[in-house]
Amino acid sequence: MLNVAVIGAGNIGRTHCTVYAGDPLAKLVAVCDIVREKADAFAERFGARAYYSVPDLLRNERLDLVSVTTAGPENGGHHYEPVMQALEAGVHVLCEKPLSNEIAKAREMVRTARAKNLYLGVNLNHRFVPLAERAKRFVTEGALGELCFINMALWIANRNDSAPYFHLRALHPHSIDVMRYFCGDIVRVQAFFKRASHRQIWSNASINMQFANGMVGHLTGSYDMTTRHPFERCEVAGTKGRFVLENVYERLTFYPHDSDETIVLSNPIMGGVASFQDTFKNRIHRFLEQVSARVPREQIEGSGEEALAAQEVIEAAIRSFETGAVVEVPAVS
Ligand SMILES: NC(=O)c1ccc[n+]([C@@H]2O[C@H](COP(=O)([O-])OP(=O)(O)OC[C@H]3O[C@@H](n4cnc5c(N)ncnc54)[C@H](O)[C@@H]3O)[C@@H](O)[C@H]2O)c1
Repeated sequence: MLNVAVIGAGNIGRTHCTVYAGDPLAKLVAVCDIVREKADAFAERFGARAYYSVPDLLRNERLDLVSVTTAGPENGGHHYEPVMQALEAGVHVLCEKPLSNEIAKAREMVRTARAKNLYLGVNLNHRFVPLAERAKRFVTEGALGELCFINMALWIANRNDSAPYFHLRALHPHSIDVMRYFCGDIVRVQAFFKRASHRQIWSNASINMQFANGMVGHLTGSYDMTTRHPFERCEVAGTKGRFVLENVYERLTFYPHDSDETIVLSNPIMGGVASFQDTFKNRIHRFLEQVSARVPREQIEGSGEEALAAQEVIEAAIRSFETGAVVEVPAVS
């Protein structure tokens, strides 16, 4: 069993605490927030010890792993410091996305974890669902044939108008990670953004992509929609067939080119994914399993490297929008 602490006692920190408290591979021993009342309330609710500073937490607890669920500018500006402090103390980290809103810091976090031979995972939870795993098998087992294109869409309602590229940096680590999960590295992008007239930020995005394997792809994203109706859709097509994965975990449809019959897999009512919260449960459990099993670092699913690769795509898209050019995406080695 791994000794775990959660750093950042906000909404998402509560979800991480709830998952750890219910997972047989973890013992939630401490929670930490710079706001004393928040740390105290979580400590009481989850039967853990409260800390008000990360160095104090790391000095006083024997931890295997921390979740960093702080937020900050563009929902990632407060991740760097606690992640680096935990890594320096020799503790494995599961960080919320984005690793950092500043790409140089995200790169340094990944470099540091690698240099210290520690696990760094990121909560790229959207793909940790059975239907996404099944869809991935359509790709790896050749049911799609030669891969041709991917169309991805992810939109939610978010009225936060704090920074011009907040929508890109805070939301699209998820969508781009799902695209990379099915189709691999993205090497070139070309982007257009639209600001809804009542907003200060670039709240809509249309991004064209070319993949290392030659595929082409497209992402539509928005913060001006709603989650009342389906909000995520991923379509991957090849020379033999095409699949559509709807609303993260609700339905997967496979359309073979050589048949009139389609295969439809639905999320089962009994024993399926009960709500979006279960994506956190699945993702965190997988990280606990992999850390407990001491898998080689490169086998970590939803790794810091993968999260960084998605962020490199976002930064390239921003440069494309600003310059009007097609932009090369730096490789994450
Ligand atoms: N994976 C997902 O599906 C998903 C969904 C929503 C949000 N998120 C991510 O979750 C993260 C947290 O979001 P939230 O809405 O819970 O934020 P929040 O603002 O509610 O909570 C963050 C907490 O961190 C604390 N904090 C900041 N710096 C700290 C430090 N150095 N040490 C200890 N505590 C510190 C703050 O006081 C605050 O209580 C964000 O990065 C966001 O992008 C992920």
